[in-house]
Amino acid sequence: MSKLVGTAGVSVLGDKSLEFYRDPVAFCEQRIEKHGTRIFQSRLLNKPTSFVCSVEGMKELLCEKSSVFLKDPTDVMHNMYGDNIVTANGEEACLLRLSLTNLFTGKCLASGSDLINSVSERCLKNLSATGEPVSVYPLFKRLGTELVLGLFLNVKPDETPELFQEITALCTLHWHGIISTPISVKVPLWSSGFCTALEAKDKLMDIIKDKLECERQGFVGYLRDLPLPDASCASQHLLLFISALIPKALASLLTSFTLVLSGAGKEIRNRARADPDYLYYILLEVQRLWPPFIGGRRIANQDTTLGGFHIPKAYAAMYVSHAIHRDPEVFHQPEDFLPERWCGRNAGQEHLLCSLGNGPRNCIGVQLNNVFLKAACGYLLQHYDWDLSPYSQDLQYKWLPVSRPTVPPMVSFTELELESSATDLPDGPP
Ligand code: HEM
Repeated sequence: MSKLVGTAGVSVLGDKSLEFYRDPVAFCEQRIEKHGTRIFQSRLLNKPTSFVCSVEGMKELLCEKSSVFLKDPTDVMHNMYGDNIVTANGEEACLLRLSLTNLFTGKCLASGSDLINSVSERCLKNLSATGEPVSVYPLFKRLGTELVLGLFLNVKPDETPELFQEITALCTLHWHGIISTPISVKVPLWSSGFCTALEAKDKLMDIIKDKLECERQGFVGYLRDLPLPDASCASQHLLLFISALIPKALASLLTSFTLVLSGAGKEIRNRARADPDYLYYILLEVQRLWPPFIGGRRIANQDTTLGGFHIPKAYAAMYVSHAIHRDPEVFHQPEDFLPERWCGRNAGQEHLLCSLGNGPRNCIGVQLNNVFLKAACGYLLQHYDWDLSPYSQDLQYKWLPVSRPTVPPMVSFTELELESSATDLPDGPP
């Protein structure tokens, strides 16, 4: 067993959180190059942390040693979301997953497909109408917001526009609490972003509780009937499902999809229209190269190892999906967009991705996400060709809090003259 390379430095002064948050990609790349290994240590959130940047390390952390590396109950998410599955561990987490998974599979999932298709059509139907370029990230975020509010709360902008607007605005304030300093300060005429976010959370919880009491239909109805541990559990989880997190992740993937298939990608677009398997490989490659979230964090509950390196009890471990997805051991030409790799060298290796987590604590929305992407990407491909407008734009990505180009990209859509036949994605990730 060897000692972890790198240094965790001294408390506070040795903390590298700022450097990591400024540019997590450069942070990892520099250390991988310096130490010659894809597992190393540094100090994040003032805790000694092992960074995992290899596929093998990620599998060990999230699958084989999932009972050693646990979720952190004091995670920053906990401040803004309260008790929920994301920070739970052990039996509690298992039972919650068993219950909640019902919402995102089978009959429940199928019952949402009409809404998903109609929202995709409503948000994407007039993209070429004005002839003007469209800022795609906010467009896709709006699509994601309509999807989650329609599915999880039965709130639709065409039926109750004011309530839809109110919830959307509250979700934005709530989101600022996730990305701001957790200090709650309020003086006359000024309050910290965190304090405003907590107030927004309370208002959202009131709306959610009201919906849980009154609505019988859809996911809210299913959720109320689930065997959950206590009365507040359903509302805490609805807060998680409707928050800005999912629309932003969805917008991130749809933006990356649109950009990589723009302009010169015409041949790729044609192939994706004709071949659902190829579209599936494109979506795998999109999530490999541009995972919406940088990764996830765990805490070791005992002395252990990762990749043969000693990890002391209470050390944190951070898996970095951007780096894991570029592990040259598994993904040859890791920086290149090569959908064909998924029917060639990497065929059947979707389980080596971690953009939706991995192992027993992976994302419970995997299938729902698949349906979202199938509907939105299918609609775009069937109805449009598109290109960047202007042709040359700065597409440099930022990776936190959710990956996307720093400068919002503008895309010009042209309606297809003949509608292609419906694209269909096979079941399975993404
Ligand atoms: C593009 C969309 C999405 C992305 C990129 C995404 C990503 C992720 C990731 C990376 C994790 C694992 C976090 C970790 O390892 O610590 C996760 C967990 C989770 N996701 Fe998603 N997710 C998406 C959509 C959804 C949807 C639609 C839902 C449900 C409404 C959902 C619900 C959850 C829940 C409840 C967990 C926690 C599971 C647990 O801790 O056992 N996600 N997601």
